[in-house]
Amino acid sequence: MQYAKLRSEAKYSLAASGIMSYPLAELPVTLEKLEINGPTLYGYVPLLERLAKLSGVTPDCVVTAQGTSLANHLAFAATLEPGEEALVEWPTYELLTTTLQYLGAKVRFFDRGLERGFRVDPEEVERKTTPQTRLIVLTNLHNPSGALIDDATLRAVGEIARKNNARVLVDEVYLESMFELRPRPAIHLGDHFVVTSSLTKAYGLSGVRCGWILAAPELAQRMRLIHDLYGVNAAFPADLISVVALDNLDRVIGRAKKLLAANRPVLDEFLRSRDDLACVQPEFGTVAFPKLKSGSVDDLDTLLREKYETGIVPGKYFGEDQHFRIGIGGDPEMTRIGFERLGKALDEMRAL
Ligand SMILES: Cc1ncc(COP(=O)(O)O)c(C=O)c1O
Repeated sequence: MQYAKLRSEAKYSLAASGIMSYPLAELPVTLEKLEINGPTLYGYVPLLERLAKLSGVTPDCVVTAQGTSLANHLAFAATLEPGEEALVEWPTYELLTTTLQYLGAKVRFFDRGLERGFRVDPEEVERKTTPQTRLIVLTNLHNPSGALIDDATLRAVGEIARKNNARVLVDEVYLESMFELRPRPAIHLGDHFVVTSSLTKAYGLSGVRCGWILAAPELAQRMRLIHDLYGVNAAFPADLISVVALDNLDRVIGRAKKLLAANRPVLDEFLRSRDDLACVQPEFGTVAFPKLKSGSVDDLDTLLREKYETGIVPGKYFGEDQHFRIGIGGDPEMTRIGFERLGKALDEMRAL
């Protein structure tokens, strides 16, 4: 996270994982619509209603939180006691494991790496599950690879969890970027599923910190009470803007789809053209996670930054040193130049 916050800036950035910022000026937000204080209490009801509708659940299953980040934190805190075990996908988004460890959970991993096409294999999950496992943690779409987990696989993992008296947490923050093709949130597969998400990645609305958890009503209530320990109330102006954004989601989605329609062919062509990289081309989402077949990713990162003003995220931040993550949610011209420069840097590395 420190790398993402402090060191990932670049003129040609392929480092961001989501859609570029949506401008406030393009939403019908007026000063008359804003207010400083309001009835947030255990969630601002108009916001809960809209998120419930977006997810096809009732509002008592929805807990709002500051981003998927706090949503994950609350979901972990409500489903695990210190010393209990969480089984987490690998490679993984680092904050999932560090938050679990901060809360005192024991973390084990199951493999969903490149050799498996970044797929979740229920047999591998079952092999790594122990009688102490209380939570299985997945991202869908996968960060860093963008791979989609289908419903049959989620059901199979759910069955393993259910037999073990455990739950499955699915972080769906990237699933939003499938827009009308998005499958229903995994909460619909049973009460032993917990889903987290936000408006951050697919919509470019990170600044409103509109995150949420979908959980069975009793568990959702436990999370609301834990939230009292962390933030008590949400920032009301942010909740008001989130409601306006959700009421105008078609417009927000239209822009995101245009950006991805311009950038995905550039990514596809780039990956097809490089025999020095191994990659599963993601069909959906905003990121890909190629493997550099030989040479050092740290050297590539340094060369890109110092000579080509271009940013990627080294795979070491996901536990895979030979990989790097690239994102396609940025301005199309910048993205095109970023890929051109990445190609030049790779050529230069190969010539050494
Ligand atoms: C898998 C995953 N979950 C959560 C987050 C954080 O999202 P938010 O901005 O909604 O807190 C990220 C951000 O990179 C992420 O990759």
